[in-house]
Amino acid sequence: MMNARIAGIGHYVPEKAVKNDDLKEVMDTSDEWIRERTGIEERRYGVKHEETTATMGTEAAKRAIADAGLQPEDIDFIIFATLSPDYYFPGCGVLLQRALGITKTEIGALDIRNQCSGFIYGLSVADQFVKTGMYKNVLVVGAEMHSMGLDFTTKGRGVTVIFGDGAGAVVVQPTENKDVGILTTKLHSDGTYAEKLAMISPGSHGGYHDEVDYGFDKDIKYGGIFITQKMLDDEMYTPYMEGQFVFKLAVRKFPEVIMEALMAVGLKPTDIDMLVPHQANLRISQFVQKTMGLPNEKVWNNIQKYGNTTAASIPIALSEAVQAGAVKKGDLVCLAAFGSGFTWGSALIRWG
Ligand code: ACO
Repeated sequence: MMNARIAGIGHYVPEKAVKNDDLKEVMDTSDEWIRERTGIEERRYGVKHEETTATMGTEAAKRAIADAGLQPEDIDFIIFATLSPDYYFPGCGVLLQRALGITKTEIGALDIRNQCSGFIYGLSVADQFVKTGMYKNVLVVGAEMHSMGLDFTTKGRGVTVIFGDGAGAVVVQPTENKDVGILTTKLHSDGTYAEKLAMISPGSHGGYHDEVDYGFDKDIKYGGIFITQKMLDDEMYTPYMEGQFVFKLAVRKFPEVIMEALMAVGLKPTDIDMLVPHQANLRISQFVQKTMGLPNEKVWNNIQKYGNTTAASIPIALSEAVQAGAVKKGDLVCLAAFGSGFTWGSALIRWG
């Protein structure tokens, strides 16, 4: 089997930067609270009605394709990870294909719904397809337009201040060189606490998983489940997060899954040249850095500028690190993520 390597990378973030103080205009919050708890100073929001998850993903994809020295027609498979898709269905993969102008190629497009770990899951799928010789130029995209679906009142402040918009993409190609490329990926999930970090409604749950009153009308014979007037009136369509619960699990699972990947290929934490953690919260990244014993220059953080961009955060951060020259040929790059599901994962890449 061949190895799979990242042959091109790119990212896109919308122009509009929203500072912590800007959010004070719509909710009761403060710059100090947000910085102290999360490290975030500002985030980007896409332009309403002009930008979407798919358009941002497309821009990042174009940059990654150009970086790989390819044309969009060369892509033979699309993987798109997001939790904020343009449509409930179809997924963003086909919208991206259309925007790239390559519908004629009729290539496959796969959508991934693994939230914060979506990009690592996507990269792992690309790795398997490329290694086995099935595809030669797999496009993996992570993109989010969080700003469209957050609660911008004080009620939603615990979640809303954390998230931002953006997109990142890579092109994964085969290489004969066994020393470079994706060395291993590790994927995990535990659905026990699925509702601790979730957007429950609208959906087909029909109240099955909990005792919450969603306002279902018992007199309606068929349907009437997906969205109810009560869901709309009570704004039950925004994300929910039990922050401290997520935090405690994240700081355990990040190091665990990084160690698992290192051990699988006979390496140790000191071999890591650059750790690119999912940008969940600067405090989580600092905790992980300390646990792994890594110096500042070996951990890439940009949550200060972009907030948490979920599926986009790793490819944006990796793209920035590469552009800045902080990731060089031969470097051991470690990606790691933990998030809603819960799902988590890691990837080790010998850059080249
Ligand atoms: N501004 C001001 N006050 C706020 C805000 C805000 N934006 N949000 C919450 N508060 C208040 C709360 O109402 C509460 O007030 P009270 O004590 O009067 O009731 C107080 O601050 C403390 O709230 P907590 O939710 O307990 O705050 P906590 O210290 O846990 O910090 C945070 C919240 C930052 C979300 C933290 O729990 C965290 O980082 N959790 C990890 C989860 C995470 O990073 N998620 C990212 C997305 S998921 C992922 O990518 C892994």
